[in-house]
Amino acid sequence: MAKFLPLLFLFTYYILSVHCRPHRNNCHNVIFNVLDFGASGNGCTDDTQAFDDAWNATCKSKGQSATLRVPSGYTFSVQPLVFKGRCKSNVKVVIDGDLIAPRKPSVWDCDGKECRHWISFYHVDGLQISGSGTIDGQGTKWWTSYCKNKDNHCKKPTGFIIENSNNVHISGLTFKDSPQMQIAFERSTWVYADSLTISAPGDSPNTDGIHIQHSKHIFIDQSRIGTGDDCVSIGDGSSHINISNIQCGPGHGISIGSLGKDGMHETVEFVHVRDVEFSGTSNGVRIKTWQGGRGYARNIVFENIKTHNAQKPIIIDQYYCDHRTCKNHTSAVKVSNVRYSNIHGTSSLDTAVELACSEAAPCTDIYMNDVVIYSTKHRSQTSSVCLNVKGRQDGEIFPRVPCLT
Ligand SMILES: *[C@@H]1O[C@H](CO)[C@@H](O)[C@H](O)[C@H]1NC(C)=O
Ligand SMILES: *[C@@H]1O[C@H](CO)[C@@H](O)[C@H](O)[C@H]1NC(C)=O
Ligand SMILES: *[C@@H]1O[C@H](CO)[C@@H](O)[C@H](O)[C@H]1NC(C)=O
Repeated sequence: MAKFLPLLFLFTYYILSVHCRPHRNNCHNVIFNVLDFGASGNGCTDDTQAFDDAWNATCKSKGQSATLRVPSGYTFSVQPLVFKGRCKSNVKVVIDGDLIAPRKPSVWDCDGKECRHWISFYHVDGLQISGSGTIDGQGTKWWTSYCKNKDNHCKKPTGFIIENSNNVHISGLTFKDSPQMQIAFERSTWVYADSLTISAPGDSPNTDGIHIQHSKHIFIDQSRIGTGDDCVSIGDGSSHINISNIQCGPGHGISIGSLGKDGMHETVEFVHVRDVEFSGTSNGVRIKTWQGGRGYARNIVFENIKTHNAQKPIIIDQYYCDHRTCKNHTSAVKVSNVRYSNIHGTSSLDTAVELACSEAAPCTDIYMNDVVIYSTKHRSQTSSVCLNVKGRQDGEIFPRVPCLT
C-alpha cells in the first residue's frame, strides 16, 4: 500500500490541477467528478462507492466552494446514499447525468434496517443542487407488489430528502417514480426549490411530490408536479411556506395536513399559495385535520388559483379519516384566518366548495374574495357545504357559500 501513496498524491494533485485552475490568487471552486472516483455510469454497475468517496472528498475540501459533479451522458445506478455534512466549504452538487435506484425492492441495500430514504442530504448548510439530470426511483415494484397490504407497516423509501439543513437551493432537476414521496424537506430552514419537474403515475400510492415537515421559510416556485398523492403536502411544524407558479396534476392537490392524528398537538402557519393551476386533481387547495387533535392551522392564503376538472377545488376537512369511520371528539386542530382570493375554474363533482369544520373548534376568519367555480358536467350546477364556519365574503362568489356573510 505504502508504495502507492505517492501515486495517490499525484492523482489527487492531478484532479485538483485539472479542475481548479488557480485564478489569480486562490482557488475558488474545486470540482470532484464521480467518474474520477471510479463510477462507471453504465446504468448497471453499482456506483454507490464512487458517490460516497466523491462526496467525502467534496465535503472535506477547503476553500470557498467545492462541487460534486455528476456528468451528463451517463446513468448511475446507486443504492441508498447519505450525503452528510458538515462540510468545510459551500458545497454545490451538479447533477447533469441520471441517477437510478435498484429496480427490485429486494436488492435495496438497507444495512439490515428499513430503507427510509434513497438519497439524503443531512446537515449540509449552504447546499446548492442543480442540473438537468433525472433522479429516477424506479418505484413501480414497490407500488405494485411490495407491501400491498397496508397493515404490515412496511415503510417505503422517500426518494430524495433534505434534512437538518439551512440555506439550501435546489433547481432544474427532474424527479420521478420514487417508491414513496418524491422529495421531502424536514427540520430545515430557508430552502428554495424552483424549476423542478416531478412525476409519478396518478395511481401510484403515497407518492407526494414535495412534503414539508418541521421546516420554516420554504419557497417552492415554477415547478410542474404530477403524482399519485399530494403535489405539495405541508405537515406539522411548518411555517412561512411560499408556493408559487405550480402546475399540479394528476394528484391530490396542495394540502395542509393531515394534522392532529391520535390526539397530537400539531401546527402549521403562514402558508402562502399563489398562481397555481390544478388539472384533473382530486382536490385543489385542502386543509385536513383529524378529530381529537390539538394545535392550529392558521394565517393561510390561497390566491390566483385555476382549476380544470378538479373534484373538490376548495376543501377544509376537519373529519379526516383514512379508514371507514373515525369517532368524533371534543377537541380539534383549530383552523383560522384562511383567505381564498381569485379562484376560478371547474369542478368535476357538484360540491365545489366544502368547508366541513369541527363542532368542537369552528373555523374562524374564513374569507373568500372572487371565487367562481362551475361544473364540468353539462347542465350541472356546483354547490357548497358549510359546517361550523365563521367568516365573510366579497366580490363574485359561485357557488353561493351562505355561511360567509
Ligand atoms: C467518509 O467520511 C466519513 C467521515 O470522515 C467516514 O466515516 C466514512 O467512512 C467515509 N466514507 C467513505 C466511503 O470513505
Ligand atoms: C411569502 O408569504 C408571506 C405570507 O406568509 C408573504 O407576506 C410574502 O410576501 C411571501 N413572499 C413571497 C416572495 O412571495
Ligand atoms: C361527526 O360529526 C359530523 C358533523 O356533525 C357528522 O356528519 C358525522 O356523522 C359524525 N361522525 C360520527 C362517527 O358520529
